[in-house]
Amino acid sequence: MRHLLDTQSLSRDDAIRILDVAEDMRDTQSREVRKLPTLRGKTVVNLFFEDSTRTRISFEAAAKRLSADVINFSAKGSSVSKGESLQDTAQTLQAMGADAVVIRHGASGAPQTLATSGWITAGVVNAGDGTHEHPTQALLDAFTIRKRFFGDDSRGRDLRGLRVAIVGDILHSRVARSNVWLLSTLGAFVTLVAPPTLLPQNFAAWPISHAAHDLDEAIALEPDAIMMLRIQMERMNAAFFPSEREYSRRWGLDAARLARLPEGSIVMHPGPMNRGLEISADAADSPRSTVLEQVANGVSVRMAVLYLLLAGTNTEEEAE
Ligand code: NCD
Repeated sequence: MRHLLDTQSLSRDDAIRILDVAEDMRDTQSREVRKLPTLRGKTVVNLFFEDSTRTRISFEAAAKRLSADVINFSAKGSSVSKGESLQDTAQTLQAMGADAVVIRHGASGAPQTLATSGWITAGVVNAGDGTHEHPTQALLDAFTIRKRFFGDDSRGRDLRGLRVAIVGDILHSRVARSNVWLLSTLGAFVTLVAPPTLLPQNFAAWPISHAAHDLDEAIALEPDAIMMLRIQMERMNAAFFPSEREYSRRWGLDAARLARLPEGSIVMHPGPMNRGLEISADAADSPRSTVLEQVANGVSVRMAVLYLLLAGTNTEEEAE
């Protein structure tokens, strides 16, 4: 694997390989010494043009636990805000010897541009590009589902037959897109639930089994996992629903809906949550909620991705 740019082009075998390596990484995280020497001498650059706390910290923790050197480059306060282009930034990183670049960017396709431009030789990991994709989020979500449903018997498995409902601001969500592709590759049945204004126009071309405007109807279909998405106010330049109150009444996961979920089902959210809007405190803090497991699993999955991208490549020193 040279880069991880999306889940749309990720094969079933590659996806399961990443999830299985993440299982191994997770096992190492319960040891007393959690740091592995695997990526000693490698440099991972976190290149974040958009605000992020948990994703950046998660990649940083993952790289450090593999003993890589980490450089955090955030666009705010950098020369990017002085007008430096992606090309100049990339070439600077190349000159500094970056082995992998983890990029988050407001423009869909920026990681692809970086990977195919020839500006850098580093492996590129997409940490979220515009409304396009967020592949490591979908991988950590799949990992979390697999772990909850199959436990220690997870390795080698896909998600065949499991029903996943993705609810909320699908229009603006790269998390939804990456999940739709990956979940369908892994054999799960995906239902999208959103107000008509928050469903993208082309969703009919996506590999989903159902789209609904009514959350109660979707809950009646007994999903194994229900994934609540954040309402992305920062990407909204128009009124997509009448009021927050109306949204949470119709599309929020509240205590009453939580109680109607089938036994054994799980409640997911990629974070950051708008408590009281798309998800109530009862749902977010219930035993069904995997929110904190998702965060913990995110580190294992990102360790797996960095390992698969970098462990096979030689540093100059080793090559001599
Ligand atoms: C997601 C993102 O940035 O796309 N969050 C994250 O990765 N922590 C989802 C979101 O912002 O709602």
